[in-house]
Amino acid sequence: MSGAGVKILFVCLGNICRSPTAEGVFRAIAARELPEVALTVDSAGTAGYHVGEPPDGRTCAAALRRGYDLSGLRARVVEPRDFEAFDLILAMDRQNLETLRRRAPAAARARLRLLLEFAPQSGLQEVPDPYYGGVNGFEQVLDLVEAASLGLCAAVRRGEWAP
Ligand code: 4NP
Repeated sequence: MSGAGVKILFVCLGNICRSPTAEGVFRAIAARELPEVALTVDSAGTAGYHVGEPPDGRTCAAALRRGYDLSGLRARVVEPRDFEAFDLILAMDRQNLETLRRRAPAAARARLRLLLEFAPQSGLQEVPDPYYGGVNGFEQVLDLVEAASLGLCAAVRRGEWAP
């Protein structure tokens, strides 16, 4: 089943490193892998430290080296209406997943999951926060997000993205 559209929101803490990477990478990979599926793709943070800012310069530079232009994205915070507007909200780590579960309105429609459930071969459950680390962290984020994007495309194609 590939006809139905799916609305996917990627969530991290600041919305300047991991989740904008996921938004840009998944959008590009899905355009190639699932051209027939109408996808809505967005990202947000659970914290508001960087609202209105473009992604971190190190995030943009690492992504651009792989052909992903993230420069047009701007950070925002997860809002209550996101739980209604999206089908699937994918957290980068358990802490942000817990924050989402706490904030989800009772009538929330969206499924909440960890992004790396779609990259079981990675052996990781969480995308490590690269913000305070070295340049390798940004490459690891890209590796994990690319793998999960392929897995997510396959799951959407099979209609198996919901648990
Ligand atoms: P992100 O990374 O959650 O992947 O966007 C971070 C960005 C900023 C901060 C922490 C993590 N911060 O503390 O400002």
